[in-house]
Amino acid sequence: MIKRKSAQPSNKKNEPLVSLTLKKSSIHNVGLYANEDIAKGTKIIEYVGEKITAKEAGRRVDASLENHRSNHTHGAVYIFELNNRYSIDGDVPYNTARHINHSCDPNAETDIIRGKVWIIAIRDIKAGEEILYNYGYEFKEDYKDHPCLCGSSRCVGFIIHEDSWPQLRRALKKESRTSLTPRSK
Ligand SMILES: C[S@@+](CC[C@H](N)C(=O)[O-])C[C@H]1O[C@@H](n2cnc3c(N)ncnc32)[C@H](O)[C@@H]1O
Ligand SMILES: [Zn+2]
Repeated sequence: MIKRKSAQPSNKKNEPLVSLTLKKSSIHNVGLYANEDIAKGTKIIEYVGEKITAKEAGRRVDASLENHRSNHTHGAVYIFELNNRYSIDGDVPYNTARHINHSCDPNAETDIIRGKVWIIAIRDIKAGEEILYNYGYEFKEDYKDHPCLCGSSRCVGFIIHEDSWPQLRRALKKESRTSLTPRSK
């Protein structure tokens, strides 16, 4: 059991703009929760970390996916892609936002405002709710490396940007057709 603790960052880099708490999540390990009602449109917290090149991000994603296979407590990916050239590695202790889990039915989204990554409420969030956004991963052949356990009624089973859900559904349908066992004679 993870001990309930305050989400105050260890430095001033990403002090939340609203009151938040870190606690155990049914989705993955620790999640970030609202301590107060948050109105739609509110900036909640900044996603901070080390700015790295896309090439270095690729290397770190591969390494952390490998590590995740034997250690599920630590998340598989903490890299946030800023653009084609740069990403943020948010796997640093001062980045409280690194605990935010993905959902197929999120209450928040990310927005890059003047080069900073903000988590913003996309609907009114009640005190006690877990803050969740869609990680926005493109549909790629490695999609099975990112199964989704968000538990929402809209869950598509994998961590994928909503724009790619039709592609994912086609791939899953095709797979279920090809994996049918042949009828016995
Ligand atoms: C940014 S980290 C989230 C941090 C995590 N909650 C923690 O305690 O450190 C992202 C990783 O958390 C896990 N995760 C987040 N949302 C998930 C979901 N909906 N289903 C399954 N795993 C999830 C995956 O391993 C993912 O790569
Ligand atoms: Zn889901």
